[in-house]
Amino acid sequence: MELRGGLNTVWLIDGRVHRPAGPWTERVHALLRHVSEAGFAQAPLPFGFDEEGREVLSYVPGEVGHHFPTSDEAVVSAARLLRRYHDATLGFEPGDGWQRAAVEPVEVLCHGDFAQYNLAFDGDTAVGMIDFDWALPGPRWYDVAYGVYRFAPLYPETPLERQLRGAALFCDAYGASESTRRGVADNMASYLVAMAEQVEQDPRFVTQRAEQHNVMYRAHAAALPLLMGTLCSG
Ligand SMILES: Nc1ncnc2c1ncn2[C@@H]1O[C@H](COP(=O)(O)OP(=O)(O)O)[C@@H](O)[C@H]1O
Ligand SMILES: [Mg+2]
Repeated sequence: MELRGGLNTVWLIDGRVHRPAGPWTERVHALLRHVSEAGFAQAPLPFGFDEEGREVLSYVPGEVGHHFPTSDEAVVSAARLLRRYHDATLGFEPGDGWQRAAVEPVEVLCHGDFAQYNLAFDGDTAVGMIDFDWALPGPRWYDVAYGVYRFAPLYPETPLERQLRGAALFCDAYGASESTRRGVADNMASYLVAMAEQVEQDPRFVTQRAEQHNVMYRAHAAALPLLMGTLCSG
């Protein structure tokens, strides 16, 4: 059976996932082994490579959230899952070879693309994480910021009070420290601009460019001051 993501076509063969690999895949497999040994069972287990050089992973059960659930249950379960995942990466020696450069201060191994389309759901409950291709050593705020953006969600068409409530719900369920919250607030706009630049510059993002995701990310980044203004006017 063939499964499609934003970039990759993935094959389900005899109950295991076969996915295109990259130079970063060996590091990702080491990370997946580490979090599994630390008791985090919601990520795939790595089973090396097939004869075509694709990585082989265990199948993570659940429905991948291509419909972008943002109910309170989705927000809270995703944030808790992210917290457990981050904590499970503690003590992992990152080494080199990740697809993305490390972001300082390195606190954990970030997932790097923490959104509904890389989470498996049971109903509205996030029960699994997939697609660690963008993993990078970095601060907790890096994944929390993108999680808040996608789950609050911080889209201009979402009522401001819903954006603020969703962001608070995600940060509270994650158990975010003051410094993580500050990192989210300080870096949200630059995170979204970096997403836009990636869509504009990475040759693989053909569909995303055709659908002008870069324009959307830039518009959403530009709308953030309104959100912050509302927050500050209390
Ligand atoms: N380990 C896995 N377990 C279950 N399904 C998976 C797994 N990896 C990928 N998939 C499925 O394949 C689809 C595309 O996978 P993904 O790895 O996210 O690709 P992309 O790199 O294009 O984002 C997902 O939407 C999901 O349905
Ligand atoms: Mg994906």
